[in-house]
Amino acid sequence: MNTMIVKTMTPRTIAAPTITVKSTRGVADNVLDTIGRTPLVRLRRLYADCDFRVFAKLESFNPGGSLKDRPAHNVIRKALSQGLITPGGTIVESSSGNMGIGLAQVCAFYNLRFICVIDPKTTAQNINILKAYGATVDLVSEPDPNTGEFLQARIARVKELSETIPNSYWPNQYSNFANAEAHFETMREITEALDCNVDYLFCAVSTCGTMSGCANYIRRHGLKTKLWAVDAMGSVLFGGQPAKRLIPGHGASIVPKLCVPHLADRHIRVTDLDCIRGCRDLVSHESILAGGSSGGIVSAVEKVKGDIRRGSTCVVVLPDRGERYLDTIYSQEWVRKHFGDQFQEPCTSYNCAAD
Ligand SMILES: Cc1ncc(COP(=O)(O)O)c(C=O)c1O
Repeated sequence: MNTMIVKTMTPRTIAAPTITVKSTRGVADNVLDTIGRTPLVRLRRLYADCDFRVFAKLESFNPGGSLKDRPAHNVIRKALSQGLITPGGTIVESSSGNMGIGLAQVCAFYNLRFICVIDPKTTAQNINILKAYGATVDLVSEPDPNTGEFLQARIARVKELSETIPNSYWPNQYSNFANAEAHFETMREITEALDCNVDYLFCAVSTCGTMSGCANYIRRHGLKTKLWAVDAMGSVLFGGQPAKRLIPGHGASIVPKLCVPHLADRHIRVTDLDCIRGCRDLVSHESILAGGSSGGIVSAVEKVKGDIRRGSTCVVVLPDRGERYLDTIYSQEWVRKHFGDQFQEPCTSYNCAAD
């Protein structure tokens, strides 16, 4: 049982008294109260031949389906408590995926209007999820003329909307410390579950909220944990030039304010194909259907496993679930179209007797 602070809600009001309730995942005060406390699952099969152990933090267990539920809830909760959002207000944010869905969920709960600025790369499924939560979808159809990137074009549109819509608020997930702060809790959960015995933490990076929040927790508590960031090949977070990437989630074409590269003890870059291979390995060995960045993390561990000390405990933070990637990563046609013969199906006949 965890003790946590929640806000009570009455319909159509925003500010509410803070009370303390005991909550478990089984009995919750409301849906947002089920964010966090995600399971840690030992990956015995994938790393059966390794002399270290690996646990996966399954962030797909959050109600909106990803780790972005945590910052989405925190940025809105903070803005409400600071009076930056008032009843009838409008939230505007740029996201083509999980943060948008997380915010759509939170805004629906607090009766706030949400405009999610997307681009043509946003999948039809994500658009439908956003709409199902009641969000308004605002499509930017042309990339930024200077950089050729959609991200800059989306941010320009968010600025325009938030400057012209009265009583609007832009959480700005790329620079809002409440994004990172939400992941103090992620790291606290991991640390407490494993009795402070985490040698390596692998997390994917984009806004760098997860990295920054976990790293700050590690430093503030003087933990021995080394944080290894998993970035996309073609992302600029740790230097280099932007390049085309197909799999969304991790990586960025700009360096956000929350990105403080030295917070990572090391960074590992993964290709789209690494992500696909990692996802297929994860589902065939562990029966975990996860999203692209999770596959990237699995491949990253494989790349660096020779550097992991014997007897270590590793945690991989797996950001989301695989259902949102059925038409890409888990589609044979899509993989063949983009990667031809480079991709080999993993062996699915895992020998359970070895467990
Ligand atoms: C699937 C997925 N993986 C990784 C990340 C990176 O997380 P962060 O923005 O905290 O760096 C995101 C962020 O949206 C994501 O959606």
